[in-house]
Amino acid sequence: MQLSVGLLGLGTVGAQVAERLLAKRREIADRTGVELNLTRVLVRDLERPRGIPRALLTGRPEDILEDPAIQVVVEVMGGEEPARSYLERAIRAGKHVVTANKVVMAIHGPGLLELAGERDVDVYFEAAVGGGIPLISTFKVDLIANEIERIAAVINGTTNYMLGRMASAGISFDEAVAEAQAAGFAEADPSSDVDGFDAAYKLSILASIAFGARVHPDQVFREGIRAVDPLDFRYARELGYEIKLLAYAARTGGRIEARVHPAMIPAHHPLATVEGAFNAVQITGDLVGEVLLWGQGAGGRPTASAVVGDLLDVAHSVRKGAFNRIAMRFDADPPMLPMAEVTTKAYFRLRALDQPGVLAAVGTVFAEEGVSIASMIQKDSVEEGTAELVFTTHPALDAGLQRARSRIAQLEQVKQVCAFLRVV
Ligand SMILES: NC(=O)c1ccc[n+]([C@@H]2O[C@H](COP(=O)([O-])OP(=O)(O)OC[C@H]3O[C@@H](n4cnc5c(N)ncnc54)[C@H](OP(=O)(O)O)[C@@H]3O)[C@@H](O)[C@H]2O)c1
Repeated sequence: MQLSVGLLGLGTVGAQVAERLLAKRREIADRTGVELNLTRVLVRDLERPRGIPRALLTGRPEDILEDPAIQVVVEVMGGEEPARSYLERAIRAGKHVVTANKVVMAIHGPGLLELAGERDVDVYFEAAVGGGIPLISTFKVDLIANEIERIAAVINGTTNYMLGRMASAGISFDEAVAEAQAAGFAEADPSSDVDGFDAAYKLSILASIAFGARVHPDQVFREGIRAVDPLDFRYARELGYEIKLLAYAARTGGRIEARVHPAMIPAHHPLATVEGAFNAVQITGDLVGEVLLWGQGAGGRPTASAVVGDLLDVAHSVRKGAFNRIAMRFDADPPMLPMAEVTTKAYFRLRALDQPGVLAAVGTVFAEEGVSIASMIQKDSVEEGTAELVFTTHPALDAGLQRARSRIAQLEQVKQVCAFLRVV
């Protein structure tokens, strides 16, 4: 049996997908009983030399989307548009689709999945989150018997690389950006990574699937890593923590909490040990307990592993004539827990006048805002007559922590609240 495949995009991921399909055609056919036939590849620039036969290339999307012989469309172009409308056109034309596009799946995924259900075709998107790490299929298939309680993840390789370099080499945020760009981990405009957008897209997809609820990326609380100061890594170590960009979602008292922000994570926690551009996702289910998935969250080859895996799943379904789709239902408007009502521990670093009464004043504010202090370190500051004070707190409402942060900054004995980080 043959399955005709159209590929939208031949960049970092698409080139690896095409290479695998062309080089392993025989093995794939032997293993699955289906010959995956790459028939057309859409690119923008037809003149650039590519490692595949020139005859496969086209610059016209309709050569794929309107060709009735093409049964599966693989979208690895990226960006919201025109990728979303191409996917919609493919589904409306009765084609199965495989996509690596987190932006489209985070914003439009539930709608595309519904449309695919009506048209009796499948939408696969394993590569949209965590590159080669099998996350979506883990939720859809392996953990289906569970009520998922929470997801805690380090899911953006660029910021993880940068925070690792800031921790180990003591370099600044700007130097870490420059290093990540030179190493090919960060874009010329790094804001999608460093401001937490990329992690929020991925978390919105994971939370939607895990909780069967439509969690839009705008509903994910998001704070990036620009304000993380090299000095805080030293205090983190002293206190037994690592600093990571945490993506966290949980079902809390019937509401969904979803947030992305830098956090201090205990050094013994599995997420604290994720190094460099790697990703890890810890899932807690009511039956299974904790599961940890760890691996390469980006790169052409790991991502192609997920895309080609999805294609083979489609091939199996087509061969069996029974689509593999496990009905995914999404509560359209789930109640969300606002960040102000999230309970978390926190870390404060402030510069204060080195004189009696400071601790009492700060302690009073904490107490009035319902925040109880867990530990305190005092160090001489570089500025004469001032001291550096570091507090960690017991769990408190985020609203109380934020009020304490601004009230402490206004105390006459306090020169500056230099850092605030949430603590796991
Ligand atoms: N790279 C990774 O590590 C990674 C990891 C996980 C997920 N992803 C996702 O995979 C997707 C692809 O990423 P990538 O890194 O492979 O991107 P890329 O290297 O920029 O490649 C994009 C490809 O799509 C083509 N393309 C883009 N817009 C087009 C348009 N309007 N019409 C026709 N062709 C168009 C480009 O054509 P030209 O070649 O002619 O420019 C190029 O071949 C994205 O959704 C990304 O988020 C990537």
